Amino acid sequence: MALSSGILALSIIGVLVAGIVTVVATIAIYLCAKVAVQMYLHKEDKLGGHRDGWLGNGAASGSTPRAVQNEADDVEMGSMSFFIEGVQNERPVRFSSQQLRGFTQGFAHKVGSGGFGVVYMGRFPNGTPVAVKVLNSTLGRRAEEQFMAEVGTIGRTYHINLVRLYGFCFDAAVKALVYEYMVNGSLDRHLFGSAPEKRTIGFQKLHEIAVGTAKAVRYLHEECQHRIIHYDIKPENVLLGADMAPKVSDFGLAKLCDREDTHLTITGARGTPGYAAPELWMPLPVTHKCDVYSYGMLLFEMLGRRRNLELGLHSRESQEWYPRWVWHRFEAGEMDAVLARAMAAGDLDDTEKAARMCKVALWCVQYRPEDRPSMGNVVRMLEGEEQIATPGNPFAHLAAYSAGATLTDGTTTESNVSSAFTRG
Ligand SMILES: Nc1ncnc2c1ncn2[C@@H]1O[C@H](COP(=O)(O)OP(=O)(O)OP(=O)(O)O)[C@@H](O)[C@H]1O
Ligand SMILES: [Mg+2]
Repeated sequence: MALSSGILALSIIGVLVAGIVTVVATIAIYLCAKVAVQMYLHKEDKLGGHRDGWLGNGAASGSTPRAVQNEADDVEMGSMSFFIEGVQNERPVRFSSQQLRGFTQGFAHKVGSGGFGVVYMGRFPNGTPVAVKVLNSTLGRRAEEQFMAEVGTIGRTYHINLVRLYGFCFDAAVKALVYEYMVNGSLDRHLFGSAPEKRTIGFQKLHEIAVGTAKAVRYLHEECQHRIIHYDIKPENVLLGADMAPKVSDFGLAKLCDREDTHLTITGARGTPGYAAPELWMPLPVTHKCDVYSYGMLLFEMLGRRRNLELGLHSRESQEWYPRWVWHRFEAGEMDAVLARAMAAGDLDDTEKAARMCKVALWCVQYRPEDRPSMGNVVRMLEGEEQIATPGNPFAHLAAYSAGATLTDGTTTESNVSSAFTRG
């Protein structure tokens, strides 16, 4: 009797121990599996891979744009913690259209508009100012997953001279991007505008802006995991922060908005007239060198503090296409006239930097893409770390149009040349 009750006790203990061991083993296996999955997801994240579950499942997905489900009223609570977490992790946050309405007080303050949509000023509930770009409705056809993948890439492309993407909205009514707000607006307003915020930028600062912009494009071309061609470098897309530090905006948008086919589309809608490289409006292969060309056009406008093409003005110099006017002065050894314009705001001792900018601009707009420097070369040449060879005539292919001659239809050759360069 005593023996059988001892055996019974032993078997109960045995069963209990086996049960505990099973539970502990199960928990251990579960934890190991969880760690393994997290490590796998983290690795994919680092590689920039996009996986299923990107469709805004919020906290459930480790590295995706975050879905913020709360409505505008309670943004401050739940969604702000998502936001802060997302921003800290350098990931774009997903917002609802109601939230955007809240941030922008019903899209009340329009900052500007462009080829992709309209930009509004807004604020996050914590006071951070933001620029909300509501994208054109044609984007509605874009698949949500593809949109998220592109937005994820843009949001994780990080450089001191690139405008930061905080988040986005993708719902039936609104497709939008939420950027950091740049208090001094875009460079065009300071170079050419009569806007109230216009400040005349000293040449030293202008040179810094040129270098910062070149570094941003160099990063997109040479330092990103997957090269990003901007396709739309121009003064409107160089934004200025509180200290006039430059940041390039709208990178990645060409792809997001289907505007980067390698051959001319039927609409030809790529880049902006006046900045688009010849290969963008002719049936030629397009490479990242089209950005170098646009950057060169931007440099001319910075040097001249005027639009390259100013039709309707009366002085001979104003009517001429500015890049070609600069080439003629350069060729004739009359650089003083070019430098005088660049130095309009004083800084008379910086002629060397201005001369460098001028030569770099002439190199960047060379007709053959392979003759243009890389953006890495551009940065080094602007900073005086690389010798600049004497550029050849970038406009030799336009020789058929002799300067200023009047054609039988009454138009001047300059305006024909200009229109050739302003077709998008
Ligand atoms: N993040 C921002 N902070 C402050 N102002 C901005 C911001 N983004 C855009 N803007 C202003 O809004 C204007 C319109 O921008 P938008 O990008 O829509 O058009 P664009 O730059 O003129 O042309 P494109 O569509 O070819 O880029 C800009 O010129 C700039 O002045
Ligand atoms: Mg823009």
